[in-house]
Amino acid sequence: MIASYSRLLTAICALASSAAAVTPLKVQGKDFVNTKTGARFQILGVDYQPGGSSGFSKTQDPLSDGDICLRDAALMQRLGINTIRVYNLEPTLDHNMCVSIFNAAGIYLILDVNSPLTNGYLDRTAPWTTYTNAYYNQVFGVIEAFKSFDNVLGFFAGNEVINEEATRLAPAYVRAVIRDMKDYIAKQSDRAIPVGYSAADIRDILMDTAHYFECELANSTSSRADFFGLNSYSWCGDATYTSSGYDVLTEDFSNATIPVFFSEYGCNDVKPRVFTEVQALYGVEMTQAFSGGLVYEWTQEANEYGLVQANDNGTITTLIDYDNLQKQFNKLDMSRISSSNSSQTSVTPETCSASLINNSTFYNAWNLPDAPSKVSDYIKNGLPNKPTGSLVSVTATTLSEKVYDYTGKELTDIEFKVLANDESNTPSSSNSSSSSSTSSSSSSTATHSNAASSLNGAPAMALGGLSGFFMLLASLL
Ligand SMILES: *[C@@H]1O[C@H](CO)[C@@H](O)[C@H](O)[C@H]1NC(C)=O
Ligand SMILES: *[C@@H]1O[C@H](CO)[C@@H](O)[C@H](O)[C@H]1NC(C)=O
Ligand SMILES: *[C@@H]1O[C@H](CO)[C@@H](O)[C@H](O)[C@H]1NC(C)=O
Ligand SMILES: *[C@@H]1O[C@H](CO)[C@@H](O)[C@H](O)[C@H]1NC(C)=O
Ligand SMILES: *[C@@H]1O[C@H](CO)[C@@H](O)[C@H](O)[C@H]1NC(C)=O
Ligand SMILES: *[C@@H]1O[C@H](CO)[C@@H](O)[C@H](O)[C@H]1NC(C)=O
Ligand SMILES: *[C@@H]1O[C@H](CO)[C@@H](O)[C@H](O)[C@H]1NC(C)=O
Repeated sequence: MIASYSRLLTAICALASSAAAVTPLKVQGKDFVNTKTGARFQILGVDYQPGGSSGFSKTQDPLSDGDICLRDAALMQRLGINTIRVYNLEPTLDHNMCVSIFNAAGIYLILDVNSPLTNGYLDRTAPWTTYTNAYYNQVFGVIEAFKSFDNVLGFFAGNEVINEEATRLAPAYVRAVIRDMKDYIAKQSDRAIPVGYSAADIRDILMDTAHYFECELANSTSSRADFFGLNSYSWCGDATYTSSGYDVLTEDFSNATIPVFFSEYGCNDVKPRVFTEVQALYGVEMTQAFSGGLVYEWTQEANEYGLVQANDNGTITTLIDYDNLQKQFNKLDMSRISSSNSSQTSVTPETCSASLINNSTFYNAWNLPDAPSKVSDYIKNGLPNKPTGSLVSVTATTLSEKVYDYTGKELTDIEFKVLANDESNTPSSSNSSSSSSTSSSSSSTATHSNAASSLNGAPAMALGGLSGFFMLLASLL
């Protein structure tokens, strides 16, 4: 009796948790690692900011509209995407449906905590003016809104803050933000969600930036970044490993002690993009230094980096770049890409020291600023009036929009698939890991309805993508 009752209970729990698809990831040495299987996780990602600047406001952000997320998640599943990065989020909005959709699709999230609005970001030219209690409503608000979702891979404390216009002290402020975020997560989150930084590819200061964040500081261990993103556009057209300078990046990051990945890639100087860099990025040499990357970017905006085009009539078109990227993903050997390697996971950090910094213009001290006055109280007691988030069941699995390919042909085989527990999405031609024996089959097949929705596909200036400068500009307008 008891045994069969508990079996029944197990079955009910398996059904109830059918949306709990992905397993949380953690940082181990220089790899992202699956916390259950120990498998290595490499990012097959895309940067996600539909609508560009007009896609973000106090009332709308990229994870606030479930219909759009469902459409995009289905097309990303087909492409082979396992991670998206979202640049601008409003903590008070309801993100439950979108996050649950991406979770059910086997797609992880890397979330920037900053926004272009007032009190939403550090001013790189005078960070002390914006490193305030009010700023932490945004930063800790994003952590609170997303901390309970297993598919949150990590948070970016900053994007391209350190560049030619930045004040010399900017690195210390960003490292202080990492410290405050990690202290908050340690106290207020059930899981040690990793925190990192996304750098511009400014070769003069790139390695100094990486060393500044990844070194260990005895008197502030939490200020060490957990991962490092690089926005890199050096491979254009059908370049090569050497002509693109990827060989130099690989050598430069070969001794990294945290995961490093391309937080943006996909130069569009040559169109259409052929994405031959994918074979290099996930090849044998580079995967010792890099954990994959995120293609810039999902939707077509004015700067023409899109993989898909949201049309004015509510339909969506997969562009030729989408097909080209899919072909490259489908060639990948996922079993090699996800195999663990103990020499990767056992690296130890270097100690912070001025000798790590080469360029005399780069700040070479780690006397980090004290946190704003209320931050220690927030860390201890949680942010007042904090937003919350939790998984909801994903019921609508049918797309309400028609999908066309780049030739104009309607695609009728698009379906949103709820993955079994512990699975993440993989390119379709590669073996999806055999589903774990404990989970009930939770796949559901989508059918198609032709109702058009009123998507606004108007191209707009991208936010936070190519340059944080745009974020600054947007906040002034
Ligand atoms: C140091 O960095 C600055 C830009 O921040 C650059 O102009 C300069 O050439 C660099 N110097 C060296 C020696 O790399
Ligand atoms: C990486 O470490 C090895 C061994 O310590 C050293 O020989 C090499 O110069 C280092 N490479 C870089 C780019 O720092
Ligand atoms: C494991 O990682 C080390 C260091 O990154 C590398 O030299 C070695 O080739 C890797 N082994 C395999 C089997 O990939
Ligand atoms: C919607 O717009 C796209 C792009 O302009 C076009 O290819 C498609 O035929 C249109 N579909 C409908 C149903 O109007
Ligand atoms: C500093 O520059 C020298 C000469 O270019 C190079 O050999 C060394 O590896 C660099 N050190 C770091 C920490 O980047
Ligand atoms: C922590 O150590 C760094 C590097 O040694 C030093 O610059 C900084 O002043 C120290 N901070 C405190 C609060 O002691
Ligand atoms: C899928 O798995 C089978 C059996 O393990 C293997 O023979 C085949 O090569 C794999 N295919 C891909 C694309 O990895």
